[in-house]
Amino acid sequence: MNISIASDHAGFEQKQALVDYLVSQGHSVIDRGPDNDDRVDYPDYAELVARDVAGGSVERGVLVCGTGIGMAVAANKIDGIRAVNVTTPQFAELSREHNDANVVALSGRFVDEGTNRAILDAFLSTPFGEGRHTGRVEKIMALETK
Ligand code: RB5
Repeated sequence: MNISIASDHAGFEQKQALVDYLVSQGHSVIDRGPDNDDRVDYPDYAELVARDVAGGSVERGVLVCGTGIGMAVAANKIDGIRAVNVTTPQFAELSREHNDANVVALSGRFVDEGTNRAILDAFLSTPFGEGRHTGRVEKIMALETK
């Protein structure tokens, strides 16, 4: 799968490790930075990944900051994005099945790397459930133009 990934300084260390993990799993990864752990503003990096996903050059986005919260809030400002801040593999699975989430925002400070790897496994392998979920996701997206 084609994936765009970025972090801020708080998520940098895990971002580096998760890039290696995703590549080892056969994914094609665009690393939008940063390339060191100097202090940066997470909305700048959320926007880069969100625009890659919204523009269709990649299928999914991955963001890592201290909590994942700010990254998700920022990414959801871009039309076409359904970003979720997830701390368990089960919620990652449900975010795909029920919400057709296309960006996952991870915590680099409060969730260990092994759990984040499992979250990514679930997020990247679970299909959208369709059926009763389709109309609900369509209603979410219609809010962009209301
Ligand atoms: C940076 O200190 C921190 O605010 C950021 O990484 C993130 O947790 C924001 O939601």
